[in-house]
Amino acid sequence: MQLVSAYYSDFMAYLEANTFDQAPNGLYQPVDYIMQLGGKRLRPILVLMGYRLFHDKHEPALPLALAVEVFHNFSLVHDDIMDEAPLRRGKPTVHELYDVNTGILSGDVMLIKCYEFLLKAPAALIPALVQTFNEVAIKVCEGQQYDMDFETRDDVTIPAYLKMIEYKTAALIEGSLSLGAILAESGPDNCHHLGAFGRNIGLAFQMQDDILDTFGDPAKFGKKVGGDILNNKKTFLLLKAQELANAEDQAALKHWMSTKEFEEAEKVAAVTSLFEKYQVLEVASEQMQSYQDQAFKHLEKVAVSSERKKELADLAHELLVREF
Ligand code: IPE
Ligand code: IPE
Ligand code: MG
Ligand code: MG
Ligand code: MG
Repeated sequence: MQLVSAYYSDFMAYLEANTFDQAPNGLYQPVDYIMQLGGKRLRPILVLMGYRLFHDKHEPALPLALAVEVFHNFSLVHDDIMDEAPLRRGKPTVHELYDVNTGILSGDVMLIKCYEFLLKAPAALIPALVQTFNEVAIKVCEGQQYDMDFETRDDVTIPAYLKMIEYKTAALIEGSLSLGAILAESGPDNCHHLGAFGRNIGLAFQMQDDILDTFGDPAKFGKKVGGDILNNKKTFLLLKAQELANAEDQAALKHWMSTKEFEEAEKVAAVTSLFEKYQVLEVASEQMQSYQDQAFKHLEKVAVSSERKKELADLAHELLVREF
């Protein structure tokens, strides 16, 4: 997937011109490592597109795009510590390559660096940008806490899951577009509908991430397939399977979520086969489709020509069939 290449390559050039290569190495090398590791660069591209909807250029939004991508990568460094994940974008995670303390502190400095790039915006817009950015960042932390809390709970509902993914993931995808629109001075209505488009795309995006975590191709996905099952993550797939399963299969799922003694491969295979038996992938796809429909209703209400909105619509379609 090559996300709308002009935005991608302009963002990469700006990132290249703003490397974090400075002393002390132990703090900044891991920052460059994660920032250069690749990834889709979805969020900065959304910042640029959100701005571009209302203007004929996107370059003024590059610092804001970098602020958002640094925040995203910070959240991944800490997320990988919390999820004990060995792999990210096909390479060792920061805490795996260095150590956990490095992951914590390099992550911290990344979060602070975000503000340096936010402060490059025109002075009059900084309060609104920082306020939105902070609201998003707090939601991400709250969502991450719910995600961790849910690992050890057996009473998580689908609405609770949806709130959790709205906070941990959809908020930043929404925020990327909103920030772009604020910088573009697009007005509150446009900002609202563009944000709501992003939030709905973000919900579908996290559901696809959960699907790929179990059903993805390890060669393409870049993360450890089966990680969510091993961590007892309360994903849509798991919650739906629990809901649809007969008593015997419900007991089996309960057993796998609580046992401490297991072979990794055996647990992943057993839970995956229950997902397959109850066809939860199909149910998830329907739910994702309905989020996409919602998203497009909001995109329609953004007051610019449909021609200008086409690249955002195309991107939204592409995201739902992604393989990494
Ligand atoms: C991973 O985000 C974290 C989630 C919110 C699912 P991406 O899938 O956008 O990760 P990269 O940046 O492309 O690697
Ligand atoms: C992470 O969700 C969301 C954030 C990083 C805030 P996941 O834990 O599912 O993300 P991946 O799968 O590790 O990328
Ligand atoms: Mg994770
Ligand atoms: Mg996580
Ligand atoms: Mg995931």
